[in-house]
Amino acid sequence: MHCFRPSSSKPADEVDRSETAAMVEKRQAIQSQQGRGDVSPQQDSKYELSRIMRPDDANIVGNVHGGTILKMIEEAGCIVGTRHCNTQNGDRCMAALVRVEKTEFLLPVFIGEVAHVTAEITYTSKHSLEVQVKVMAENILTGAKKLANKAALWYVPCSLKNVEKIMDVPPIKYASAEQEEMGRQRYEVQKLERLETKARIDEVVPLPPNPEDQPKEQHTVAFSQSSLIHLVGPSDCTIDNYVHGGVTMKLMDEVAGIVAARHCSTNIVTASVDAINFHRKIIKGCVVTVTGRLTFVSNKSMEIEVLVDASSPMEAGKEKYRAVSAFFTFISLDKDNKPLLVPPLKIVREEEQRRFEEGNARYIQSKAKRLAEKERQQ
Ligand code: COA
Repeated sequence: MHCFRPSSSKPADEVDRSETAAMVEKRQAIQSQQGRGDVSPQQDSKYELSRIMRPDDANIVGNVHGGTILKMIEEAGCIVGTRHCNTQNGDRCMAALVRVEKTEFLLPVFIGEVAHVTAEITYTSKHSLEVQVKVMAENILTGAKKLANKAALWYVPCSLKNVEKIMDVPPIKYASAEQEEMGRQRYEVQKLERLETKARIDEVVPLPPNPEDQPKEQHTVAFSQSSLIHLVGPSDCTIDNYVHGGVTMKLMDEVAGIVAARHCSTNIVTASVDAINFHRKIIKGCVVTVTGRLTFVSNKSMEIEVLVDASSPMEAGKEKYRAVSAFFTFISLDKDNKPLLVPPLKIVREEEQRRFEEGNARYIQSKAKRLAEKERQQ
């Protein structure tokens, strides 16, 4: 298998118990006794990038792709994370993206607007760091600004000398003990949650139908299932020759968008992406196959599961492996950017029914969360 697993990796059932709350407290107490000499200056924990949105960032009606935004978010996170992790002595390292929390696309961004992406380190554990990112879209003709997106990403520093070596993360200074405690809670929650996706990662990849075999019946899962194949080149990679998480997310969003457009034949946009865990690295020269299939359709939304498989054509005998998978939610829009009804999904197979029910449960849960959040804000 051409996947990278560090030799020091623990078995899955140990991973999430590697640092208990008591251990975190002890480590932090020791660090504070040491006068926090290794705390990096606060300015290193923030970064802003701005870029004007161009036609190749957007779909044919001018909505900037969710994948473009995800790629910028990841770039900002990688910069602030890598810079921070290199503020102490030891091997030089790159911050590798390991997780993105559920991300909602709050408002559309259009060609000609400037996206201001602000990334800030908000929590550090021994080997990982959380970066929170905000995307403001500015209309530079009027000066109007809107919050387009908020995201939380987790990075792990990998040594440039030996990519299998995970470096310690220098701790940050928190504004208050409460802020630190909230960060610790987010860290514990995601640790538990990702165990479940680790178990799913080796699921067998369904082969997409050949175009000539494409079933003619519209609105079935098979009708819209789509794949793209991409050869990982130098421009997709970090300086240590592994694919940037943002590049992968952009490809995933592209495939999900094709599936959604095939299902409803209208303009579609990304509404949200469920939490994504990047369990395995993809090295330069690999071929990645990104497959998207509809799992659930509500009145006005479509959930698409996207599976990313990697293989190395240069290493015969090495198997294809599942690098990452995630659920994207898309909505269909009319010419005034108002949500349209989505054609119901025709279920043909038993496993499609099972996936549909699971998708329905995720839909109900996320709708309830959004409503609760709205009420909290009012
Ligand atoms: N989300 C958040 N943190 C994660 C994580 C995830 N999905 N996976 C690992 N971590 C954190 C752990 O919490 C731990 O930090 P801690 O000790 O402070 O708690 C640290 O990473 C190391 O965990 P460990 O269990 O020792 O390593 P691992 O076997 O999970 O391997 C990587 C970690 C980074 C080497 C491995 O997950 C990997 O190679 N991922 C792919 C990274 C990448 O290439 N990203 C771009 C993809 S396109």
